[in-house]
Amino acid sequence: MSRPYGCLAVYRALNNDRIVSSANQSRLRVPRHVAIVMDGNGRWAVRRRLPRTAGHRAGVKSVRTIVEESVRQGVEALTLFAFSSENWRRPKSEVNFLLELFVGALRAEVKRLNENGVRLRVIGERSAFPEKLQWGIAEAEEATKTNEAMLLQVAANYGGRWDITQAARRLAADARAGRIAPEDVDERLFSDRLSFPDLPDPDLFIRTGGEQRISNFLLWQSAYSELYFSELMWPDFDGAAYREALADFGHRQRRFGMTGDQADQAP
Ligand code: FPP
Repeated sequence: MSRPYGCLAVYRALNNDRIVSSANQSRLRVPRHVAIVMDGNGRWAVRRRLPRTAGHRAGVKSVRTIVEESVRQGVEALTLFAFSSENWRRPKSEVNFLLELFVGALRAEVKRLNENGVRLRVIGERSAFPEKLQWGIAEAEEATKTNEAMLLQVAANYGGRWDITQAARRLAADARAGRIAPEDVDERLFSDRLSFPDLPDPDLFIRTGGEQRISNFLLWQSAYSELYFSELMWPDFDGAAYREALADFGHRQRRFGMTGDQADQAP
């Protein structure tokens, strides 16, 4: 199980956003945890008569922009869907390109992550990756582990169903070993065995690229996330587009099953 994230204690309260003021947005709620499906790299490239891989390369630039904007806005955790359990189905050349791109980006970005106080963590089944990538991930995690401004979680070879399945496997192992009894299993015990039990669930779930689906991303953890779909392809999703998404979130009423009046009065 992953270690607790320094400045984020285990947080299980219902409404976990914060209210901040900024120069042009007075007292808007800022999501503590944002999750993004970075879709549209391929289409961005094809529209420019470029190979799909050029779109992924351009996507790295957007990652940098959105990470730094997140720090500026006071987001505490950002989870990016970089490579799904299903992305292995893509042409081998594109998969290899993406894996090489990750290796290169990890090496190139560590300095910048440190300058911005960003800690990196990769979630997903990393043992399926080439050793070079596994080393790169471990090194980047180690080099950024004391940073506290924000946690950047990159989901790689990740799938929501995979996450739920591995949690179920851990629960079954604990039951077989006598550490828990089947009747003890509740939502808390279950979610403690998911990939990031130390973080609040994502408050805001963004998908770029114009499609409106979750695509096996954070299935359990996004139960009460606010969904936001952008028509922009990921390489075009810039700081202004992101601030628009954050502002949209800031105006939403989160009810968590309550009535609107109850939600208004909730602490
Ligand atoms: C989806 O677009 C995007 C991906 C499968 C890869 C995402 C990777 C990056 C943004 C680059 C690197 C990331 C990090 C964290 C270093 P798509 O190819 O499915 O686009 P399409 O729907 O237009 O085909």
